[in-house]
Amino acid sequence: MEAGMVTPAPALVRFSGIQKTYDGEHLVVKNLDLDIRKGEFITLLGPSGSGKTTTLMMLAGFEVPTHGEIYLAGRPIKNMPPHKRDIGMVFQNYALFPHLTIAENIAFPLSVRKTNKADVQERVGSALRMIKMENLAHRRPGQLSGGQQQRVALARALVFNPQLVLMDEPLGALDKRLREQMQLEIKQLHETMGITVVYVTHDQSEALTMSDRIAVFNDGIVQQIDKPDALYEHPVNSFVAHFIGENNVLAGTVETVDKDYCRVALAGGGTVTARAVNVSGAGASTSLSVRPERIAIVPEGTSSDGPNRLPAKVQNTIYLGDHALAVLDVSGNAEFMVKLQPGAHDSLTHGANVSVTFRPEDCLALDPV
Ligand SMILES: Nc1ncnc2c1ncn2[C@@H]1O[C@H](COP(=O)(O)OP(=O)(O)OP(=O)(O)O)[C@@H](O)[C@H]1O
Ligand SMILES: [Mg+2]
Repeated sequence: MEAGMVTPAPALVRFSGIQKTYDGEHLVVKNLDLDIRKGEFITLLGPSGSGKTTTLMMLAGFEVPTHGEIYLAGRPIKNMPPHKRDIGMVFQNYALFPHLTIAENIAFPLSVRKTNKADVQERVGSALRMIKMENLAHRRPGQLSGGQQQRVALARALVFNPQLVLMDEPLGALDKRLREQMQLEIKQLHETMGITVVYVTHDQSEALTMSDRIAVFNDGIVQQIDKPDALYEHPVNSFVAHFIGENNVLAGTVETVDKDYCRVALAGGGTVTARAVNVSGAGASTSLSVRPERIAIVPEGTSSDGPNRLPAKVQNTIYLGDHALAVLDVSGNAEFMVKLQPGAHDSLTHGANVSVTFRPEDCLALDPV
């Protein structure tokens, strides 16, 4: 190595060629290679049954991989029992001990680790301060709200200063408002404590809000691992494009490919230029994906600057407070959505013929759905 070159920090966690089957036939995790950096907040995002919890359980040590190896701080951990891994865990249903007080619940991981009494008292005290619940230390979990119970679960997972914290849908049981508040609190704890977090959710907006990086799972396979903005702007396939954010889909056939762009003949009529993201070449079927906020509605017959302009009929408009949506019929897609400024929907007459335009760079040619 040349002088002055910086060696990247080794991964805190490395999944290497991990496969998992429960029944000996069907692989629920198919070939997982994933590095998690120290201090990172990484989210496993995917639909129900895609293998997120299984992946987390293998890292925690409650499930054994069928193939491959997991490394923690460079050491293989396949044969290391869960309590030796120095990992804190938070689950969806809190899993607090109902017969113990809040303070006793938080102290539990410390007593398992045979921490001395004075230390326990100090650490539990600071954990209670961290979750702002000093005055509730002597209550039992049944006497707390859902959000308070979740805070206690969080404190219990963090009280022994683990090198790694795993959270499996920790906010799933909370209402929207409390969930959003807890998202910010968890994120803040992550930042102030410098811990590494592996977070599981099937809620894409939660993943976008909280994560440094997101691994998108589908059917036991990681489809893409990237920063939130990169996943949104540069999805590698239709699954990722559709799982993250809203999308309009138009089916078509690739006519020509010129470097990064292609011309696509739409099945419902019209031709557009799109970014050639995941197409095999001329003649291939493709799904075009265009985000609702990247489309403009212009009067029918206006001269257009760009190459992408399609006739559209206004079906409906929806007022949503901070924005509005127009639902249009565009090239055979009767639910083509365009995001508008609030109020802009007033000028759209139902049944009116208009045009929609969008830039080629905002139109992605992906694998057919
Ligand atoms: N203990 C088990 N025994 C047998 N099959 C299991 C077991 N746990 C999970 N599975 C199966 O493995 C697959 C992946 O499950 P997993 O719990 O990892 O999914 P998930 O992504 O966490 O889903 P969800 O979002 O619903 O929690 C599913 O098909 C599930 O039915
Ligand atoms: Mg799960």
